[in-house]
Amino acid sequence: MKVVAITGGAQGIGRGIAFGFADAGYAVSIADPDAEAGAEAVAKIEAKGARALFVKTDVADKTEVDRWMDQTVRELACPDVLINNAGIMVRAPFLDLAIDDFDRVMATNVRGTVLCSQAAAKHMVKRGQGGAIINIASTRAFMSEPDTESYTASKGAIVALTHGMAISLGPLAIRVNAVSPGWIETRDWQYTPRAEHPHHSERDKTQHPVQRVGRPEDIAEACLFLARHAGFMTGQNITIDGGMTVKMIYAE
Ligand SMILES: NC(=O)c1ccc[n+]([C@@H]2O[C@H](COP(=O)([O-])OP(=O)(O)OC[C@H]3O[C@@H](n4cnc5c(N)ncnc54)[C@H](O)[C@@H]3O)[C@@H](O)[C@H]2O)c1
Repeated sequence: MKVVAITGGAQGIGRGIAFGFADAGYAVSIADPDAEAGAEAVAKIEAKGARALFVKTDVADKTEVDRWMDQTVRELACPDVLINNAGIMVRAPFLDLAIDDFDRVMATNVRGTVLCSQAAAKHMVKRGQGGAIINIASTRAFMSEPDTESYTASKGAIVALTHGMAISLGPLAIRVNAVSPGWIETRDWQYTPRAEHPHHSERDKTQHPVQRVGRPEDIAEACLFLARHAGFMTGQNITIDGGMTVKMIYAE
């Protein structure tokens, strides 16, 4: 039985990745601070016939991360794949951006990625069969809207961490890659009482070269490719954005 460990896997893209790996035969371990959403995600994964574990975890807290990883190894097995998906965003005009908010975003998105990667990689090395780490970055690592500096800095750091860890962990048989999503609709992938049926205008859709907004399943497919088929690939970033970042925009 293969095991995938996913941070922020209770809702949104992480839930989509968790379901995708469960459908592909993996046992799934989820770290997320939202206990209700986590319990629901586990129930839905078990209803598919797959094994699942939820551990209430803040990825910025080393003690909680180590507890999650130890429990995963004890109750499932050493993860074959770690997906660092947990991420938060703060929007604030740069001149008013509270430095505590900047630190909070960096703690969840960057410190969390480091802590989880260290914890998982130590177990992978101990087991001796290698593994794969997949970091969920963003197209915002490379382009920006106004007032998103903390998020964009955290995602740039994740892309850099990806090649940094790939070089350090390569000799230990651990591949490290990133996936950078563009606009992924997640309102229908939240905990059921909070979920909404999404609506997209024609303009929302047709501005994308592929004529639609993204879905969590699009990101799950990329993660499954990186986990199962990409043996000669490490330190890379795959953009999944319906073509938005390669589209030229001129004023009309
Ligand atoms: N949705 C998009 O359009 C989009 C685009 C690019 C990148 N991303 C990235 O994808 C990832 C998932 O985003 P999403 O849109 O699904 O978000 P979401 O808010 O729908 O879900 C995030 C999940 O992470 C959990 N989480 C929050 N803080 C956490 C912490 N400290 N420790 C563990 N889990 C925590 C939440 O409880 C939630 O279940 C993030 O890294 C985000 O930056 C999303």
